[in-house]
Amino acid sequence: MNTSLLERYLHVRRQTESLIAPLSDEDMVVQSMPDASPAKWHIAHTTWFFETFLLKEHLQGYQVFDPSFAFLFNSYYEALGPRQPRPQRGMLSRPSIARVRDYRRHVDEHMQGLLSSPLAAGLPALIELGLAHEQQHQELLLMDVLHLFSLSPLKPAYATNWREPSGDRHGHFQLMAGGMVELGHIGDEFSFDNENPRHATWLQPFEISDRLVSNGEWLAFMSAGGYNRVELWLSEGWTTVQTEGWEAPLYWQRNARGWQQMSLAGLREIDPAAPVMHISYYEACAYASWAEARLPTETEWEIAARSGLLEQIEDSAWQWTQSAYAPYPGFRPANSAVGEYNGKFMVSQLVLRGGSCVTPPGHSRLSYRNFFYPGQRWMFSGLRLARDLPSAHESDTAGTANYTSAFAQDVRAGLGKAEKSLAPKYFYDAAGSELFEAICRTREYYPTRAETALLKDIAQDLSACIPDGAALIEFGSGASLKTRLVLEASPQLDVYIPLDISESALRNATVQLQKDYPALWVAPEVGDFCHLADLPMPARTRPRVAFFPGSTLGNFCQQDSVDFLRSVRRFLGQDARLIVGLDMLKDISTLEAAYDDADGITAQFNKNLLARINRELGGTFNLEQFLHVAEWNPERSCMEMFLVSTQEQQVEAAEQIFHFAEGERLHTECSHKYTPESIQRLAESAGWTLERQWLSPAPQVGIFLLHG
Ligand code: SAH
Ligand code: AVI
Repeated sequence: MNTSLLERYLHVRRQTESLIAPLSDEDMVVQSMPDASPAKWHIAHTTWFFETFLLKEHLQGYQVFDPSFAFLFNSYYEALGPRQPRPQRGMLSRPSIARVRDYRRHVDEHMQGLLSSPLAAGLPALIELGLAHEQQHQELLLMDVLHLFSLSPLKPAYATNWREPSGDRHGHFQLMAGGMVELGHIGDEFSFDNENPRHATWLQPFEISDRLVSNGEWLAFMSAGGYNRVELWLSEGWTTVQTEGWEAPLYWQRNARGWQQMSLAGLREIDPAAPVMHISYYEACAYASWAEARLPTETEWEIAARSGLLEQIEDSAWQWTQSAYAPYPGFRPANSAVGEYNGKFMVSQLVLRGGSCVTPPGHSRLSYRNFFYPGQRWMFSGLRLARDLPSAHESDTAGTANYTSAFAQDVRAGLGKAEKSLAPKYFYDAAGSELFEAICRTREYYPTRAETALLKDIAQDLSACIPDGAALIEFGSGASLKTRLVLEASPQLDVYIPLDISESALRNATVQLQKDYPALWVAPEVGDFCHLADLPMPARTRPRVAFFPGSTLGNFCQQDSVDFLRSVRRFLGQDARLIVGLDMLKDISTLEAAYDDADGITAQFNKNLLARINRELGGTFNLEQFLHVAEWNPERSCMEMFLVSTQEQQVEAAEQIFHFAEGERLHTECSHKYTPESIQRLAESAGWTLERQWLSPAPQVGIFLLHG
């Protein structure tokens, strides 16, 4: 006895019954347009599917309920003979609804008979297909009812308590590293043939929004003349807008107070935070072009969805992709009549991914491929934006002369002070990031080598603190080299989120990482870790472990490091762990050499700050007229770096003139050195508990495990 399959069968069939419960007999007969079918036809057709593909073929002695139903309720199976033309399904006032209900009962009884005996090989899969097919019709039934009711002057509610999907914040673009990826169904649970075979494909790095475009954003597009601006539209789309007179999504209507929307709950006010729905591919593309973005490809969508960083995946609206609905490499439809299920529709349609608020729960999957023609919009369709990353060349010049940027403002403020200073985060443009990596290779700069060796030694200990399926979030990840030691020892990590202010370092590192760790989801985030509150909470549903190596915490001034540690606790939430690497106090001569190497790489790194001001903010610094100085500050227990003017001079930067006296210093960095006690105090003053520590041999660095 196939109890679980029988239970599933009965459950799905009952779901259909409950969906038609609010409908009158008249509601169930009318066909509102050729694309839509009457509810009566849906419930008969799904029953015909089980009768035709299962009972007739596989239940001995089965007598068909009514031979005329083969013509009436065949949808599109050529192999099964002629059928009622689709646009005329609404003409079927006979059989009566009562007779269709009898038909359902008859087929259910015989299906229970079939499921009570051992099933031949291949039958469970066919029954699963029948159930998935019925669930697809459950969604179609609601789409078609909404279309029918939208045309009624009474604007009836299908269910007055129907809840539309909602939202509470704008989308945020998530960076995805790309590389060689795999696409398609995973595992041996049911999937449609079109989701197979799973195969490898190449992806460029890209960005994708973690939320769907909202009604509020759509209203802004409309106010900006979105439906009247030919330059935003595909040619076919523009023709459709003109001929159909579209000026808003389907089901939106204007009244004296503004726009309203017909929904399954009747005519309702538009919720600006809710995802926009009932838009065509043409409209989705026009919006994306207005928003200076594009639609994701279905590969990008699937890869991003599996990263765990997207929201509104299956419960809001199907999401248009820019991918044509085509067979995957190696796709073969089945030989029997069910081979007509998907394959023959693989032309002229586009793929939508995800699922919607009317998709039966559990029906969709991350590999699920829905498909519609580009002009259709009665389905619950919305959009999620994606973007290309600027090429390396574009991003190098992207900041050119932006005098309103945070960098420009901080340069004006920092050079305008009596004691000139600039934050060390501005070291790390593309050139600065490369110079930092060169520092790490100098003989004198011991912290990178010492910390790498220590991490190698303790990798297993660290791995024991990392839960299964966790996301590792790294602050100031740079080249992500040390991370590899953690990743190698901790295969239980599913997601890696490197956060860095340097887009170029992040991109180089993550493209390489994704290649080397194909099973890991690498989701880089360009951002300033001083403003964690502005960043989206990453991998909300996973245990999160933060990694902050390299003594970068030491570059904060005393109070800022406490504030930062506090903000990390807030960012990570309950039961968080932070693995932080810090440089320990040691003899001054080792420190001074590390910050003033003989080859002058650190000097170049320091002076690159002035070069960057020249490049990006129209600066006139003469690099020859500044000296790199690195000095121990015993009160603060830190190495400090300065750029010292060798002569009195005026310099222009960010559209202002600054005066430098001879010998005047511009402070560029503090690099604190710690003792185990000072670290314990620092952790505790920010609300963390120091759980474990590992110290290296001299020149000493330490790794500290904090628990939030
Ligand atoms: N973690 C690496 C790199 C350390 S260098 C290692 O241990 O070797 C410091 C890194 O922090 C650089 O990649 C720099 O771009 C990044 N960084 C500095 N200030 C930052 C800030 N405010 N927000 C985000 N990243 C920052
Ligand atoms: C990134 N940070 C921890 C380095 C440090 O040692 O403070 C940056 C650096 N400055 C000079 N050399 C290296």
